[in-house]
Amino acid sequence: MYVCICNAVTESDIEREIAAGATTLECLQARLNISTCCGSCREITEVILEQHTAPRAHRGHPASPAAVAHAVNA
Ligand code: FES
Repeated sequence: MYVCICNAVTESDIEREIAAGATTLECLQARLNISTCCGSCREITEVILEQHTAPRAHRGHPASPAAVAHAVNA
C-alpha cells in the first residue's frame, strides 16, 4: 500500500528502512524522501514508525495504516 503518493513510498519501504535502523521521521525523509512534498503522509508515517519502534509492552495490536487513515479522516 502506498503511504506517500508524492514520492511513491510504500508501507513495505518504510518497514524495510525501520528494520535497517531508521528511528525518526527525519531518518525516513532522508532515506525515502517521504513527507517531503505535500506532507499529507506525515501523520500516517509517524504512526507506522511508532508501531514499529515503540516498546512491545506498550504497542498492543498494531492497526493497519488503512484503519489509522480512516480514523484520522473520520
Ligand atoms: S503524500 Fe507524501 S509528501 Fe505528499
